[in-house]
Amino acid sequence: MTALLHSDLALPGLRRGKVRDVYSLPPDEGGDRLLIIASDRISAFDVVMPTPIEEKGRLLTRLSTFWLRHIERMGLCRTHLISTDVTAVPVSAFKPGGTTREQLEGRITIARAAKVIPIECVARGYLEGSGWKEYRATGAVCGVRLPAGLRQCDRLPEPIFTPATKEEAGRHDENIDFDRACAIAGRPLMERLRTLTLSIYNAACEHALSRGIIIADTKFEFGLVPGSDEPILIDEALTPDSSRFWPGDTYEPGHAQRSYDKQYLREYLERLVAAGSWNKQAPGPALPPDIVAATAGKYREAAQALTA
Ligand SMILES: Nc1ncnc2c1ncn2[C@@H]1O[C@H](COP(=O)(O)OP(=O)(O)O)[C@@H](O)[C@H]1O
Ligand SMILES: [Mg+2]
Repeated sequence: MTALLHSDLALPGLRRGKVRDVYSLPPDEGGDRLLIIASDRISAFDVVMPTPIEEKGRLLTRLSTFWLRHIERMGLCRTHLISTDVTAVPVSAFKPGGTTREQLEGRITIARAAKVIPIECVARGYLEGSGWKEYRATGAVCGVRLPAGLRQCDRLPEPIFTPATKEEAGRHDENIDFDRACAIAGRPLMERLRTLTLSIYNAACEHALSRGIIIADTKFEFGLVPGSDEPILIDEALTPDSSRFWPGDTYEPGHAQRSYDKQYLREYLERLVAAGSWNKQAPGPALPPDIVAATAGKYREAAQALTA
C-alpha cells in the first residue's frame, strides 16, 4: 500500500479540496455525477500538510459511506451516495503514469452532483471549540442562548444548530446566527436544514454512544439537485475530519478531552509555532514519522469502533 497525496486521472472538471479531489463523470439517467477521491492529505488550521497520512483517505471513505448508508436506511435524508465501486470508474479515466484503479480502491465515492448550499450545517451536543469560545464571550452560540455556568465540554441541555459560512480556500468559516443563514440561503430551506441536521446528529449520537464514542459536534453540507426543493446530504459525513469524537469512558467536563482527531498533529504544530519555526500559514511543515503513525492510528481506531 502506498499513500495517495494527489490523484491524476484523465477526467474533466478536477477540483482539489483540502482532502478530496473531485472530478466530473458522465451523467446517468438520474443526472450529473461526481467522482470524489479521498486522498491521504491532512490539514490543520486550514493548511494542508505536505506529508500524507497513509490510509487516511480509505478510513474516511469507510466511515463516511457507513454513515451515509445508515442515514438512508433510517429514512432520515437522501444522500449523494451512488456507489463506491472502483470498477464503475470508466477505463478512459486511467492514463500511463497516472493514478491506478488499485490506488483508488476504497477511496472513491461516486456521487450525485448537487448545487452546494453555502452554509455549513453544524450540530453541537457539547460545548467545545468555537462554541465554547463564543459562549464564554457572550453566553450564546450562534445566537442560541444557553444556561449560565456551563463548563468546557459540558453536555448541552439539548443539541443545538449553529450554522457557519462556507468560506473559500484559505479562509476560516465564520459562525453566524440563524437569521443570517436565512438571509443567505432562504428561511424555508434553512428551517428544513436545521431539522435534518439535528435529526441526523441525534441518530448518529445514538449509534456512536453504543460504540463508546461521544460525537461532541459535527458539520454537514447539503445540496440541491434539479427538479426538487428537498436538500440532499452531500460531502463527507460524521468523520473525525468533520466532527469532534471523544472516547466516552474518559469523558469529563471542565477541561479539554482526549479526542479521536488531529490532536497529536495540532499539539506538534503548536510546539513548532511556540518555537517560532512555523506561523500557521501555508506551506505546512513536513511531519515526522511518529506524528504520522499516531495520527493514522487515531483514524483507524475511530473507523474500527464505529463501523466494525
Ligand atoms: N455531491 C456533491 N455535489 C457537489 N459538490 C460536492 C458534493 N459532495 C461534496 N462536494 C464538494 O466537494 C468538496 C470536497 O472536498 P474537500 O477536500 O472536503 O473540500 P474542502 O477543502 O472544501 O473541505 C467540497 O468543496 C464539497 O463542498
Ligand atoms: Mg471538506
